[in-house]
Amino acid sequence: MPADRWVSLGPVAELARRELQPLEAEGTPIALCYRDGQFSALSGVCNHVGGPLGQGKIDGDYVTCPWHFWMFHWQTGQTRPEIGDGCVPTYPTKIENGVLLVNVAAAGPRKHIPHPPHPLARQVQREPGPIRVVGISTTMMNRDFPRPSTSELLLDEALGQATSQGCETQLIRLRELAFRHCEGFYSRSAHACTWPCSITQMDPTDQLDRVYEAFVHWADAILIATSIRWGAPASLYQKMVERMNCIQNQETIADRHLLKNKSVAFIITGGQDNIQAVAGQMLGFFAEVGCQFPQFPYIAHSRGWSAEDMENNIRYVEQSESLKEGARGLAERTIDMAQLLVEGALGKVALVPGGRKGNQLDVKAQI
Ligand code: FES
Repeated sequence: MPADRWVSLGPVAELARRELQPLEAEGTPIALCYRDGQFSALSGVCNHVGGPLGQGKIDGDYVTCPWHFWMFHWQTGQTRPEIGDGCVPTYPTKIENGVLLVNVAAAGPRKHIPHPPHPLARQVQREPGPIRVVGISTTMMNRDFPRPSTSELLLDEALGQATSQGCETQLIRLRELAFRHCEGFYSRSAHACTWPCSITQMDPTDQLDRVYEAFVHWADAILIATSIRWGAPASLYQKMVERMNCIQNQETIADRHLLKNKSVAFIITGGQDNIQAVAGQMLGFFAEVGCQFPQFPYIAHSRGWSAEDMENNIRYVEQSESLKEGARGLAERTIDMAQLLVEGALGKVALVPGGRKGNQLDVKAQI
């Protein structure tokens, strides 16, 4: 391409109506800025993972990418000084006869100094050792004034069983972690949803990395305990699985299977009913991220619609040997399945191209 190639972007009067807009000049994506009577043209492709800069907004002097909010100076394309000295290409512009022209052949340089990879991004490889079991308690309560939790009580019982079988165990109570809601990057573009989660990468105070670490890299068996809240799993469970969209999305966009050889089971308790619907939601999600289940993959307890005497419910669970035995049995089955998976006794689980869609061509065509 010649070094001087001016391409029309359109009438100035029209282009000057918006401070930032995405355009294309002979196939080159442009983020066109207009401020104080001046145009500037930056590359429309963000340095991070290619977000559409022209669809962002201008904050102060910086164009902010709509995907994960990286910022580039609206005239020079430079990143903010405190971030480093990266930049996106800029293109010369000029006005002739009321038409804005851009020289796509005279792009400035793109400079991207990649951050060191996040520790979660390392290759998934099981470290040698005994079966490792993580228990996730999703019930919410006041940290300073804890109350008895029937689901957590049974989870403790299950983890005790795992310890007695020589497994390594860890208990994560979601209520003790400070973590942000999924911000729906996926809803902008499948490629805006990254592994590790972009919130985890951008916000060192977000503590869901502990759950990701346990699920993806550490555990062979995962036991999740939830209360029933208005016929659904606990809200913290939902908050966690929304943040796990990045794990499922890797199946779809990258044929990358992050939850390898994981056996998962559930403990569901509530004062009222809807156990099967809650179990259905949980089974559905963990099936979609490629986990395996033991036979009879959940235990549950509810005293039914009319039981409003919650103090009796707590007492019932605390005193119920059969529920505790059920929790121990669930742990045993989940560990047995994990053992089979770790030993490869079930054979290599072939990854379906395109993840759960099962149709590689259709999925790729949409991307
Ligand atoms: S900030 Fe632009 S793609 Fe992530």
